[in-house]
Amino acid sequence: MSVTRRGLVAGNWKMHGSRAANASLVAGVRAALPAGADCVLCPPAVYLADVAAALAGSSIGLGAQDVSPEAAQGAYTGEWSGAMLRDVGCSHVIVGHSERRARHGESDALVARKTAAALAAGLVPIVCVGETLEERDAGATAAVVGRQLEAVLAGCGVEAFRSAVLAYEPVWAIGTGRTATPEQAQEIHALLRGLIRARDAIIGGSVRVLYGGSVKASNARELFAMPDIDGGLIGGASLKADEFTAIVAAVPG
Ligand code: 13P
Repeated sequence: MSVTRRGLVAGNWKMHGSRAANASLVAGVRAALPAGADCVLCPPAVYLADVAAALAGSSIGLGAQDVSPEAAQGAYTGEWSGAMLRDVGCSHVIVGHSERRARHGESDALVARKTAAALAAGLVPIVCVGETLEERDAGATAAVVGRQLEAVLAGCGVEAFRSAVLAYEPVWAIGTGRTATPEQAQEIHALLRGLIRARDAIIGGSVRVLYGGSVKASNARELFAMPDIDGGLIGGASLKADEFTAIVAAVPG
């Protein structure tokens, strides 16, 4: 990563945990986290307030895994707003994760609306893009991730990325143990940054682009050493305090 950008590591717990397991995971992360690290934990929504309490007094951020595109309260069963996430202590929210796109049919346009809702509430959106294996094999990676990013740029403006973070998560690398090589990831990170840079050179240079997909302590250092990889969005390995804090420690600087 560039020396001008600060590294960030976010742990996406997905649908894992329990009150007891979360308490011991947070205690373990707090005890072993390198000083000054920029890191965010994203538990399931039902545990956000609990985890916020467990993180009190630490510099660790709290993130949700999803947010409603609606800003105002209303008849939206099963949803929660950005304002509610702020109310329980969140600083960040993941939007457009491939599991939401695939399992809940979230479109590029909806992801753009969720990004806008997060920003309006004062949250840092972590906007996920990534191609499936079929799309990669068909040579469509650049077109797919470009389309996903352009929808957010069209809906929110390039200024969104003054605070929003981008995450490249190739679907074929998520939970499979098959990590993108540092060179494969770097190629797409540079492409994504280039699309933002084409609209605004300063924002393109400063936006943080995280890599996600089977990141482990054993491969984090070589990924984070690439010039356009500014940290990671970590799934499975974020459920083990020692593994997660070792990944955080692999951020240069
Ligand atoms: P894994 O690290 O388990 O591959 O998950 C990546 C991910 O989807 C994080 O959002």
